[in-house]
Amino acid sequence: MSRQILVTSALPYANGPIHIGHLVEYIQTDIWVRFQQLRGNQCIYICADDTHGTAIMIRARKEGRTEEDLIAAMSHEHQRDFHRFGINFDHYGSTNSEANRKICGEFWNALREADLITERSIEQLYDPDAETFLADRFVRGTCPKCGRTDQAGDNCTCGHTYSPTDLVDPKSTLSGATPVLREATHLFVQLDKLHDWLVDWVNTSDALQSEVANYLKGHFLAERLRDWDISRPAPYFGFEIPDSPGNYWYVWFDAPIGYIASTQQWCDGHGERLEHWWKNDDCEVHHFIGKDITYFHTLFWPGMLKTAGYNLPTKVHIHGFLNVDGKKMSKRDGTLISADTYLKYADPSYLRYFYATKLTPRVEDLDLGVEEFAEKVNSDLVGKVVNLASRVGKFAHGTGLSENYPDDGGLFEAAAAAGDEIAKAYEACDYSRAMRRIMELADAANPFVEHAKPWEMKKDPARQDELRDVCTVALNLFRQLAIYLAPVLPDLTTQCSELLGEEIVSWEQSRTPLLGTSVTKFKRMLNRLQTEELQKMIEESKELAAAEADTTAEPTFNDSDQPLKDEPLADEITIDDFAKVDLRVARVIKAEQVPEANKLLKLTLGLGGDEQRQVFAGIKAAYEPEALVGRLVVMVANLKPRKMRFGLSEGMVTAAGPGNADVFILGVDDGALPGQRVH
Ligand code: 2FM
Ligand code: ZN
Repeated sequence: MSRQILVTSALPYANGPIHIGHLVEYIQTDIWVRFQQLRGNQCIYICADDTHGTAIMIRARKEGRTEEDLIAAMSHEHQRDFHRFGINFDHYGSTNSEANRKICGEFWNALREADLITERSIEQLYDPDAETFLADRFVRGTCPKCGRTDQAGDNCTCGHTYSPTDLVDPKSTLSGATPVLREATHLFVQLDKLHDWLVDWVNTSDALQSEVANYLKGHFLAERLRDWDISRPAPYFGFEIPDSPGNYWYVWFDAPIGYIASTQQWCDGHGERLEHWWKNDDCEVHHFIGKDITYFHTLFWPGMLKTAGYNLPTKVHIHGFLNVDGKKMSKRDGTLISADTYLKYADPSYLRYFYATKLTPRVEDLDLGVEEFAEKVNSDLVGKVVNLASRVGKFAHGTGLSENYPDDGGLFEAAAAAGDEIAKAYEACDYSRAMRRIMELADAANPFVEHAKPWEMKKDPARQDELRDVCTVALNLFRQLAIYLAPVLPDLTTQCSELLGEEIVSWEQSRTPLLGTSVTKFKRMLNRLQTEELQKMIEESKELAAAEADTTAEPTFNDSDQPLKDEPLADEITIDDFAKVDLRVARVIKAEQVPEANKLLKLTLGLGGDEQRQVFAGIKAAYEPEALVGRLVVMVANLKPRKMRFGLSEGMVTAAGPGNADVFILGVDDGALPGQRVH
């Protein structure tokens, strides 16, 4: 019986272009939808732009245009790029629609009625010039640890993490003003009230990959679920909360509801009722998302759907991230390639096929190795699949297909029998397995043509029937591959349909050969992928990134010149002079107070093995003895021992700073060993 299936991909933010990382998901989803349709299921694919939030508000301000103008332009660009990659939505909407506002209101009322909403005041940084609250990423300043200027609100390039209020000299990136702390009321969803229900859903619904269910149970569901801050105070680009004027729904509230609103718009245009898709046990709902947004789709979203009485997801299909040549995509390396740039250099089918060979049902990152990409496309698609058609295509135009299917040694039958296994792999999102199986069929089919040598038959008028039989076998085997690959390579399917004068609309067509029809003139189907083109693509992406590089500029430092003024550089020495000072790495074994001394701590330093030195160091005001034990320091190991009132001092610990509490012991990077000389 035919299934009724609604499929979504995550809604892309309307503040940036689509790149090859995004395309992993849209290609994965599109393949699944096309597969379902080919199997005869009623399957619709719904998406939209995710348009709300501070980032879009700020960008529109910077560009001196309205948010509506900006999101309309981005929607146009996104839809153009998706279309060019063969991604075939049934509807592409926008979260900034009246349909969405209305359904958000409905969800909101349901949450209120279920007593899940609470209100409280929180403190946040506020930009008094731009008159807006600031998320961490809109604050920059000097790192409190290393002094690098122009660092992000929550972490520094030195690796230190902090909260924006710890920054020295914080500045708003919107106006340059110094932010102030300000209180505002926020509304929260008390998700923990749904805790038991969520545990049950995660355990019993079968909606989640097992590693995802385990992750949720081991992390979030193992403890109290925190309240979810669901509102933002004005100004904010989004929907104002009807019963809380001046507050707006946070973008993550209205984004998933956008799945439903976009379906509503599709229903309006197709004479369908929304309830038939979203409030109907017979309709499956499948979300495809990336692993970074697991939390939203597997806890909040099911909680919201249940509260508002909508269908819960039948399955949330979660995929990993894309790496390029084993590394995270990066603008600097030119590997964050936009859809638009890609299309200047390569055919979209290549990427669709390559991703298909890499995608599994598990939450794994996938790697696009540039060499491997070219190799796979050229050897599989060009060398095996298209090759099968091109070797006989030019002869078949004259012969047409035989009336009866010739003896092919069981190839057609074997490939037809493989159909169920391939279908199972598609259904399970195990495209990599499906592609492997299809290529095995291609591997078996090609030798048939090699051995038959149709190019020799062509020359001999007495062998024309034989030639027609070889063409019939080769083209029918090619047609089977084209049907099995139809979800991945819609363009190839169209080319096959044109060649054989038969539209491919159903998986079932793979079971019966096509016979007794004419064949159109063969046209070239797919060119080889040249690695030089991929290099050019990367170069262009690098140049584009450099052109908008201000965010990746080198950090600047504003260290004071006072220390050098206080103590100018000493007279020059030779390397031999320096070599007289024997600096060694040492470990603090013991650190003790010296009750009679005001400034000193007594340190026992280990140089490895049993070798130890006792040193009195003037660091009492700066360090607690316990904090020093175990640390590696640099000591002057050949300093003449000095007899002090409290005992013998056998060296010196190196430190900087004027003294008293401002003393900073020189540290040693990990890996150094006690006893090693410092050069
Ligand atoms: O992470 C993102 O790119 C979000 N724009 C995805 C939203 S998905 C859904 F909830 F709308
Ligand atoms: Zn730092």
